[in-house]
Amino acid sequence: QWTTSSIVDEQVARIREQVGDGKAICGLSGGVDSAVAAALVQRAIGDRLTCVFVDHGLLRAGERAQVERDYVAATGVNLVTVDARERFLDALAGVTDPEQKRKIIGREFIRVFEQAERDLKAEGDYRFLVQGTLYPDVVESGGGAGTANIKSHHNVGGLPDDLQFTLVEPLRALFKDEVRRVGTELGLPETIVQRQPFPGPGLGIRIIGEVTQERLDILRKADAIAREELTTAGLDRSIWQCPVVLLADVRSVGVQGDGRTYGHPVVLRPVSSEDAMTADWTRLPYDVLERISTRITNEVNEVNRVVLDVTSKPPGTIEWE
Ligand code: XMP
Repeated sequence: QWTTSSIVDEQVARIREQVGDGKAICGLSGGVDSAVAAALVQRAIGDRLTCVFVDHGLLRAGERAQVERDYVAATGVNLVTVDARERFLDALAGVTDPEQKRKIIGREFIRVFEQAERDLKAEGDYRFLVQGTLYPDVVESGGGAGTANIKSHHNVGGLPDDLQFTLVEPLRALFKDEVRRVGTELGLPETIVQRQPFPGPGLGIRIIGEVTQERLDILRKADAIAREELTTAGLDRSIWQCPVVLLADVRSVGVQGDGRTYGHPVVLRPVSSEDAMTADWTRLPYDVLERISTRITNEVNEVNRVVLDVTSKPPGTIEWE
């Protein structure tokens, strides 16, 4: 019977043995897997680990601060943030096709991350790359059966081809719930350890239409309100996730105060799921829906309609793109 603290002790010992007196790099995504993997390695080798966080500008409100402030406060880890917001916006200009967006975001991400690796390598002898690969990832990539590619899933921190690194993967034997327990044991912030799934391409695939700075700002505000109300209502653990989607090319007429409005709709997509392969739409309480709708239309000027997605998966996917 493995206890959480024995998992931590064992992994820390293994990492020390593998890395010796070498140096390691870890890409943080803001999600639980990379955060826990990095925290384990940090515990094992201290400041010989450097974490890299790429801000691609497609993050939700507060996510960068969660990494830069809360995660660093909890772990004391060395962190390099690369601000690549403009670069991603430039690369996405004029692009509306979902798969195109995913490809561009994936490609730019790898380029930015590899540059950060080169910069670090120029400074010191970094030979190890930490990845938050979980047991189900290992099984999936080994299995290969029935891997229809419905959406090209881009996972942040992909393996670069021309830079030579030895992989350190301390979560390879663990399931998600064990990873969360290890994260808690290591004192990581609740906002990271209990975070719901969020796609690597971020808000880029939740804006239907071209991604622009202004649209990102609108969606970020609406999303923050929805998340805040769901958290206040104590619903975080009972829903799998609740994407908020901006229909940026759609406008409808509304009325607010004395005036006519002509604004955009946002869609709430609350889903319940075990593994994201199938999902059902979550029957959120009406009063919670009402608060979200009222607040979004009051507080986000450009949005004058809130719409609820009542489609299961299949036939709908969880994300709209
Ligand atoms: P779909 O939309 O395919 O989503 O029903 C299933 C789960 O995967 C997440 N998702 C992604 N995660 N990169 C990711 O890392 C992606 O490109 C991506 N697309 C979807 C989605 O949030 C849901 O949890």
